[in-house]
Amino acid sequence: MTLRVGLIGAGIMGADHARILSQQIAGVSLHFICDRDTARARQIADDTGAAHVSDDPLAVINDRQVDAVLIASPDQTHAPLTKACIAAGKPVLCEKPLSQDSAECLDVIAAEVKTGKRLVQIGFMRRFDLGYVDMKKALGNGSIGPALMMHNFHRNVSAPPSFTGQMAITNSAPHEFDIARYVLGEEFESISVFRPKLADPTKVGAPVFMVLTTCGGQIVNVEINNNAAYGYDVRGELVGEKGSVFLRSPVASELNVNLQSVISYPADWRPRFAEAYRLQNAAWLKSIETGKPVGASAWDGYASTLVAEAGVTSLESGSAVRIIPIAKPALY
Ligand SMILES: NC(=O)c1ccc[n+]([C@@H]2O[C@H](COP(=O)([O-])OP(=O)(O)OC[C@H]3O[C@@H](n4cnc5c(N)ncnc54)[C@H](O)[C@@H]3O)[C@@H](O)[C@H]2O)c1
Repeated sequence: MTLRVGLIGAGIMGADHARILSQQIAGVSLHFICDRDTARARQIADDTGAAHVSDDPLAVINDRQVDAVLIASPDQTHAPLTKACIAAGKPVLCEKPLSQDSAECLDVIAAEVKTGKRLVQIGFMRRFDLGYVDMKKALGNGSIGPALMMHNFHRNVSAPPSFTGQMAITNSAPHEFDIARYVLGEEFESISVFRPKLADPTKVGAPVFMVLTTCGGQIVNVEINNNAAYGYDVRGELVGEKGSVFLRSPVASELNVNLQSVISYPADWRPRFAEAYRLQNAAWLKSIETGKPVGASAWDGYASTLVAEAGVTSLESGSAVRIIPIAKPALY
């Protein structure tokens, strides 16, 4: 059976998802590329052999020929379009974050719970990255003992001009919040956010450093530096009582020259997580076939947004902020 996917948003991530679905996964066809910029949608459709283009996301979601929807439009579109997919009874892979507003995440959860069926997967693709898979495995099989701490570093070359001061916490950090929750199997209890005194807070993408505690007693730290200049770099280490798991970036080679050994950093996230995106998308399509949900749920989307909201409050107040979720619905 071939699943017909409607892809909404043909920007950087949308183009990458279209390439993955058209070139790297069998049993799927791109039925629609939808972008409010139809020239961009047409370009991606031509590049990937997609059947149709549209500038109307709701028409795509409700088209009877569309079996499933992938949302890669900007953050503020995610919750309304995900709700439209739920109303149409269609499985949806929605890029992170589900929303930057936890109340809006709860609306999505309420709509999904009402159907009694898991339809929503959130694009927290690090759950499919083999380094983080190893971390979870080492914790699960006891080889590093109980977890004590997790260190996380997220560095981009430069923040886009549209990046606001809080987006380090609301747009970038949800990846770190989700992967730490997932690897540790814990919810967060509190967050404290700091900014180096020397950083200019009016500059887009000023760095932030966060310290979180989990309900299980671990400490997690997260550095988000969207203007790190030297390359896209994600680092992490899970520290247990008997050992640790340290992430290695997938690099194909090392250049040895002039008495130096050199590895190159990618300019953005796509090469670093190429395999994770592929595995995530393949798992999503397989889950539609089998009816067994995988990956991050709408609940996970809510949980990371709740942490981000508390993080923004902490940055503004200069104090630690407690994180208090609603009771988890039985669907999750
Ligand atoms: N999972 C990841 O690692 C990852 C990485 C980067 C971005 N993202 C997320 O992916 C999303 C897209 O990011 P991007 O970098 O591709 O942005 P982008 O600006 O490059 O692309 C967004 C596209 O959506 C289109 N668009 C805007 N509003 C629309 C609407 N209402 N309907 C249809 N199309 C619309 C724009 O014209 C644009 O082409 C963001 O939510 C971002 O947070 C996820």
